[in-house]
Amino acid sequence: MVRIGILKSSKIRPLGITPDTLKKWSADVAIFLIEKDAGELANFSDDQFIALGAKISSREELLKNIDILVLSDELSDQDLSLLPLNTLIVGLLNPYNNKPFIEKLLAQRRSVFALEKLPRTSLAQSMDVLSAMASLAGYKAVILAANHFGGYFPMLTTTAGTVPPAKVLILGAGVAGLQAIATAKRLGAVVEAFDVRKAVKEEVESLGAKFIMVEGLQSDVQSGGYAVVQKEDEIALQRALIHEKAMKADIVITTASIPGKSAPKLIEKRTVEAMKSGSVIIDLAAASGGNCELTQNGVTIDFAGITIIGDSELAYSLSREASKLFSVTITNFIKHLTKNGLDQINFEDEIVQGTLLKNE
Ligand code: NAI
Repeated sequence: MVRIGILKSSKIRPLGITPDTLKKWSADVAIFLIEKDAGELANFSDDQFIALGAKISSREELLKNIDILVLSDELSDQDLSLLPLNTLIVGLLNPYNNKPFIEKLLAQRRSVFALEKLPRTSLAQSMDVLSAMASLAGYKAVILAANHFGGYFPMLTTTAGTVPPAKVLILGAGVAGLQAIATAKRLGAVVEAFDVRKAVKEEVESLGAKFIMVEGLQSDVQSGGYAVVQKEDEIALQRALIHEKAMKADIVITTASIPGKSAPKLIEKRTVEAMKSGSVIIDLAAASGGNCELTQNGVTIDFAGITIIGDSELAYSLSREASKLFSVTITNFIKHLTKNGLDQINFEDEIVQGTLLKNE
């Protein structure tokens, strides 16, 4: 019997278990210890969990009595002092952008598995929480932009004249970018998208958007399907084209990133200065430095009439859906990790090896 712990977070974070997912765990395989009111922010009550066999605990009791802790937030030093060193830690741990916390865990020689490092393979697809969160973020970015943008999205024809549709520019057509394209198209906008991976051209076009090509780019994809870091002269070519396109756009949504690296700076200050007043930039790459030179992570700013929102945690604001998707992917991961028993974890396994954090 594995004892799995779920803590209450002080910020909006996806919860590691939801009632629907709890039903998928057999009572003789796992018992869940859930901190009191942990589900409050995602609209799940303690009673729903109790009815399904979970135990509601104080934070202290929980930390002392579990084998696996599911995390989507940091732990305080006090939490860590209560958590036995052999407790496994799994979850969304922000390993690229929260190095001090990860270093603290590794200094204590703890076994820590970050789903951000999951290999993008078919076998791991059911555990791919990054794609799930990116989809939510891409959708929410458009809704948020529409809210801040004073204008109207679809073309509007009235007896008093015609209002043209909003122009949306998407930078980075990975999972978040494609969902943003689909959402903006559904709302009736005219959408253009840019990515350094030429392979996404077809996907962008199949969603009804125009794919912007930057001539002269040499590099494209590295192993694992991620984009390669662009050379400075290639970035300069991209910036020049983006400058032209952004001047005409009402909304720019940026999602361009490469795991573990600083986000490419695609939008210069001079580009923002040239944009139309009332335009909106939503920068989903804010946590790794942002795609816009003016982005501040976690902050909304007004720069000469242009709203710039830097937010890499937009998915979490859809707390119920984010929790549902996180709990399914983490359940699949824990089942994979412990398939031979807690004491028989196969460290040669590609998924286990990929997610296990090590001192680098
Ligand atoms: P991501 O979040 O790492 O990056 C977002 C997008 O930014 C990517 O499309 C990337 O090409 C693009 N980008 C990077 N540098 C750029 C630049 N200078 N200018 C413009 N765009 C730039 O990407 P995500 O969404 O996590 O997907 C990454 C790869 O993983 C893709 O190849 C995707 O098809 C693949 N993937 C595979 C899955 C699977 O097999 N299970 C699941 C999801 C994604």
